[in-house]
Amino acid sequence: MTVTIERYNFIQKLLHWLIALLVIGALGAGSALDWLDNGPLKNQLYALHKANGMLVLGLMLLRVVARIVFGAPPLPASVSSWQRTAAAASHFLLYALILLMPIVGWAATSAFPAPLPFFGLFEFPPLIGADRDLSKQLFEIHEIMGKVIIALVVVHIAAALQHAFIKKDGVLRRML
Ligand code: HEM
Ligand code: HEM
Repeated sequence: MTVTIERYNFIQKLLHWLIALLVIGALGAGSALDWLDNGPLKNQLYALHKANGMLVLGLMLLRVVARIVFGAPPLPASVSSWQRTAAAASHFLLYALILLMPIVGWAATSAFPAPLPFFGLFEFPPLIGADRDLSKQLFEIHEIMGKVIIALVVVHIAAALQHAFIKKDGVLRRML
């Protein structure tokens, strides 16, 4: 018996995988910033991390529009109701956190105040005025949100692998 699987469309898949790569990169580069000593390498990584994060913001705005316009394909009937609820809640949280994360980084950088160049092409204007204490608090929020995103992504990838290799129900293929 062949089971037909409805998939996310090409634009949604492209955005999912592009953003997944960039977010994993941002989590890695952000964490590396935490333990690198000051110097030219750290400065380059700051610039790369910030521009990468702003790219995520732009792509996420497109992705939210794509999600509203195209929706999500129905899940296979074998997926139980608590799993549907868990998936919807965790996907919503991922969308919200990955949209907010760059905005918090942008605000924290503006308040520091530090420049926000985009791959040497142009600079983003400050989102808020200079305020060193506020910047410190926003970076603490940025750090906590990073830990929550890491936890959600780990569970998300584990769930995807479980669907692919244990349940073999085609859920992963919806995104391939
Ligand atoms: C999806 C987007 C982003 C993710 C996932 C992300 C993630 C992270 C993580 C995990 C850290 C390390 C936190 C720590 O352990 O101290 C970090 C640090 C940092 N992020 Fe981001 N970030 C994102 C976007 C941005 C953006 C857009 C900016 C600036 C415009 C930014 C500026 C910074 C800076 C300056 C640090 C270093 C903070 C410090 O030295 O304490 N981030 N980021
Ligand atoms: C190896 C890594 C990953 C795999 C295998 C994977 C797999 C999947 C699969 C199979 C779905 C479809 C779920 C469904 O049918 O409802 C999905 C959806 C989703 N993934 Fe991932 N993913 C990965 C990484 C990531 C990362 C790093 C993020 C966060 C940046 C992410 C965010 C999302 C979101 C928000 C959805 C919901 C899409 C929607 O309904 O609009 N994924 N992922």
